[in-house]
Amino acid sequence: MTEPFETSTDHSELDMRQKVLEILLSHQGEYVSGTTICESIGVSRTAVWKHIKALENLGVSIESVTRLGHKLLSIPDLLLPAIMKANVGSNQGIGKYILWHEAIDSTNMEAARQVKNAAPHGTVITAMRQLGGKGRRGRVWFSPNGGLWFSVVLRLPIPIRHAADLTLLTSVAVRRAIVRATGQNVLIKWPNDLLLNGRKICGILAEIRADGELLQHAIVGVGINSNIPAADFPSELSDYATSLVAEGSPPISNVKLAADIFLEMETLFTQMVESGIGFASVLVEWKNASATLGKSVRIMTPQGLVTGFAEDIDASGILYVKGDDGRLAPVHSGDVLFE
Ligand code: BTN
Repeated sequence: MTEPFETSTDHSELDMRQKVLEILLSHQGEYVSGTTICESIGVSRTAVWKHIKALENLGVSIESVTRLGHKLLSIPDLLLPAIMKANVGSNQGIGKYILWHEAIDSTNMEAARQVKNAAPHGTVITAMRQLGGKGRRGRVWFSPNGGLWFSVVLRLPIPIRHAADLTLLTSVAVRRAIVRATGQNVLIKWPNDLLLNGRKICGILAEIRADGELLQHAIVGVGINSNIPAADFPSELSDYATSLVAEGSPPISNVKLAADIFLEMETLFTQMVESGIGFASVLVEWKNASATLGKSVRIMTPQGLVTGFAEDIDASGILYVKGDDGRLAPVHSGDVLFE
């Protein structure tokens, strides 16, 4: 891709680092001479050396030997475009373009800036940590190093009334990938939080723009508490939130997890656009993984508190809550409160 957009960090430097890393990745197990790298990317030996040092600071392990050159020994678990390229494979959709940051305010906010700069469908913004991660309803999202934080730009020709399907489908995509990676019994709390042993391990924040009846674009932000040690959670969160490692998973590869999620999202969204069937296509799977159905719930909705028994969900994601009077109340959006 020719870079159609600018970013808040120095991306020309980052791009050079990516190119050096790509060259090293394409010569795995072999030395590549400094001259070869200089000639391939058109910079001086001093500049190459600076990029090698910068990569080492990010955790890329490189052996540099006089007269032989540089050999890649190992790569860190970071969603650097060069590393993701090797993992996303032939996926031409989500994750084809990745913008990586060491630290950023919020990947959703950066995605909104990139949308203004014409970021294409499928662009992923990701960061090692967020300094102002956004949760639903104006909450702050705890986003230290170790977690998986990303936002996807979607430009899909779907009616705006189906926009809620994007988050519901994303929760299913993320759940599938986490279950494959960990074997853990991850459940979905309506509408789209993922829970492990009753506490939250993933949240999704979708921000949507309409153009009349059609979706203009959506930014779907996903936060997964993957490799965050239990002791790192602030005390006010630890009753409600946990991480995969805190629940006993061995450290997982954020790179592989992200690549798997991108493929799952791509599959579900393509199917939705082609067949017009969105959430309905995964309704049974969603119900089987639900932490909400069949439970007494208290839901904070834009219209106020709804309490009762979570009886069912329909093909558009509307939850039906049976009140004390036996009547079913349809709930379109809200937050199921933790007990
Ligand atoms: C929630 O409240 O459950 C939604 C949390 C969404 C967090 C993710 S992390 C990546 C993306 N960037 C943000 O600022 N928020 C979302």
